[in-house]
Amino acid sequence: MKIETVEHYEELSRKAATIVAGQVSIKNNAVLGLATGSTTEGMYSRLAAMHREDSLDFKETVTFNLDEYLGLPPGHPQSYHYYMHKNLFDHINIPRENIHIPDGETEEPEAYCSWYDKKVEEAGGIDLQVLGIGTNGHIGFNEPAENLQAQTHVVDLAAETIEANSRFFRSPREVPRRAITMGMGSIMKSRKILLLAGGPKKARAIRDTVKGGVTTRVPASFLQLHPHVTLVLDREAAALL
Ligand code: F6R
Repeated sequence: MKIETVEHYEELSRKAATIVAGQVSIKNNAVLGLATGSTTEGMYSRLAAMHREDSLDFKETVTFNLDEYLGLPPGHPQSYHYYMHKNLFDHINIPRENIHIPDGETEEPEAYCSWYDKKVEEAGGIDLQVLGIGTNGHIGFNEPAENLQAQTHVVDLAAETIEANSRFFRSPREVPRRAITMGMGSIMKSRKILLLAGGPKKARAIRDTVKGGVTTRVPASFLQLHPHVTLVLDREAAALL
């Protein structure tokens, strides 16, 4: 694992955006795996600025988002569809048909999940997967468990995740209980992985990811087995390394 520690969130966002922009520039039809959340917002804002100011071109880029809540329509302000359009897609020249985000309204989630994996495969696999990390070590919505799943699947969210994400809803009761997420196998098949973490609440999960054993109790610890992982951390998230 390559670990880059920076001082501030702004620097973290700049560094992350530079890595993603490098992938987009080096390969016209780059396939990006994307995450949502507070951590990635600054990176998306930088990428939008790079498109606006430096003509960073996304016209052949293909994207696959990691996850989406089940039961939220795309127009819901807390859906990941809404987040992605607001933070990135509305500001760059990516063709709409190149954007893939799991459908939170699907009536046949299992069949839909298989279809999603097939689309990733047809696109040639993911060149660069961007990840955030949960305070419990989750990536995507692959929560700590006895067993982890390889493929895209439906998941019951962990209590800590519902609690952590309730800051975006009026109350924890409104947070959806289920989501669709790409599985650990899909993430591990990406050619390169970029994980971002900032703030003191992530320090324990980062320590367990980097220094602990590989365990399904800390899904991100599986990244130790991947040959091309870069972690961009701020000082607080790196504090226990
Ligand atoms: C969401 C996702 C999650 C987040 C993680 C960190 O698409 O993949 O695993 O990356 O929950 O979220 P923040 O950045 O809000 O702390």
